[in-house]
Amino acid sequence: MNDINKEKIIIIDFGSQVTKLIARRVREIGVFSEVLTLNQLKKIRSFKKIKGLILSGGPATVTKKLFPKIPMQIFSKNIPILGICYGLQLIAKSFGGKVKSGNKKREFGRAILKKNKNSLLTKNFFKKNKTKVWMSHQDIVYKIPKGFNKIASTKDSALTIIENKKKKLFGIQFHPEVTHTDNGEVLIKNFIFSICKAKKMWKMNYEKGRIIKAIKEKVKKEKVICALSGGVDSSVVAILIHKAIKNNLKCIMVDTGLLRKNEFRYTYKILKSKYKLNIKLIKASDLYFKKLKNIYDPEKKRKIIGNLFIKIFEKEAKKIKNVKFLAQGTLYPDIIESRSATGSKTSKIKSHHNVGGLPKNMRLNLIEPLKELFKDEVRKLGKSLGLVDPILNKHPFPGPGLAIRILGKVSPKKVKILQEADNIFINELIKKNLYKKIWQAYAALLPIKTVGVMGDSRTYEFTCLLRAVTSKDGMTADYFNLPKDFLDEISNKIINSVRGINRVVYDITSKPPSTIELE
Ligand code: XMP
Repeated sequence: MNDINKEKIIIIDFGSQVTKLIARRVREIGVFSEVLTLNQLKKIRSFKKIKGLILSGGPATVTKKLFPKIPMQIFSKNIPILGICYGLQLIAKSFGGKVKSGNKKREFGRAILKKNKNSLLTKNFFKKNKTKVWMSHQDIVYKIPKGFNKIASTKDSALTIIENKKKKLFGIQFHPEVTHTDNGEVLIKNFIFSICKAKKMWKMNYEKGRIIKAIKEKVKKEKVICALSGGVDSSVVAILIHKAIKNNLKCIMVDTGLLRKNEFRYTYKILKSKYKLNIKLIKASDLYFKKLKNIYDPEKKRKIIGNLFIKIFEKEAKKIKNVKFLAQGTLYPDIIESRSATGSKTSKIKSHHNVGGLPKNMRLNLIEPLKELFKDEVRKLGKSLGLVDPILNKHPFPGPGLAIRILGKVSPKKVKILQEADNIFINELIKKNLYKKIWQAYAALLPIKTVGVMGDSRTYEFTCLLRAVTSKDGMTADYFNLPKDFLDEISNKIINSVRGINRVVYDITSKPPSTIELE
């Protein structure tokens, strides 16, 4: 995906968890960037279009005999270089500074940074000569290299920002790319615009072309299969691949009977007619209901649904001859979330089922065109592909579908009741312009019946729970403050029009301690 004709910022990846976040920050301010490994960097012949280099953080240490480094001659190409964390330590070491393992002085989390000297890099970055930054380091630079100035420091690391103005070299120990650093984007903008003099040239349309070109180069004349769930990620993946290789893309859509009201038909129709996708439709709802009969346990439900999906998908995929690739809608946060900062496995809360990530034993090569992007960037990409609003801005929806929103036993009758209630709730949110302010909203059916009175008769029916949350990434969430008028109205509407529900409750817990889904 290396485009030598574009002015760009190159980010050298030394293995930090947040390297791609640097790339995202650079894209956000409209400048084209590429993340390269050291090996890719060594293959670059012309540096003409490279406006700046950012050296990422990483787990290595320059205190060892062997450590990853960039060739020394790159430092003399008069290209501005910003080293972040390991990047700073590498710059310091390369120019005769001293770095040691700061066992006692390591810094993780927030730290207060104090300004020592003015710098173009930190213009408008400090408030009253101070700011809060996010640190994650063990090694510290304790002797400044010759020709460098100290720009800022924290209590535990005196050389938190250093610069060599003449050589255009800058090093910072903290991470400006994470949102926990106040004003981090100001520092990145200063580097990109004031120091590198880069121009705003990056647009989502450019990214689209780049991805399509890369797919063409990778797939050539081979066939790709893709499981389409109808959510924004898999739809964007399928449309992109279709643009690249046309009908060599074969999509499979499995109707589990566990989607929202009318959603399966709508998505199938539109993806087939408007985007001309080659889709094989598999009706499997009877099978899903049969397998889920009498199952209460959430984890069992999730496993049954996930495994059944694999079986159906594999069976159908095998019918398509000579397939070499499997397309998946993996996003960058999916990759970060599966690793923890220390490299240890994070504890399992729920076994997530994702339509994309399944057949492991099919020996297919993976294509994951969205794996460097975040959800909001995928939406922008979808928009530039002309994806229709109901798919583009659809709230996230879990792989196991309504089965984990019907607590306890699942049956076609309960699905029908829930689909009706959920449909009323979602449509009302759209009508009242609330839908786009909410990260995720849904109705669930609780496994308890309560007594009610309608007209003069006693009722004994299900309770419907409504949930609406705000979130940035689904990792943490807060309940959305729905106006009282809205709650009054929606409760009435649901009870008056859905047979089987006589009570509506609104979930007011955040995540943590709760999760977004109920099972
Ligand atoms: P929780 O309930 O863990 O959900 O707070 C966080 C986000 O993940 C979605 N979710 C899933 N997505 N397959 C998915 O693709 C799953 O099995 C699954 N379970 C939960 C959930 O809807 C929320 O957006």
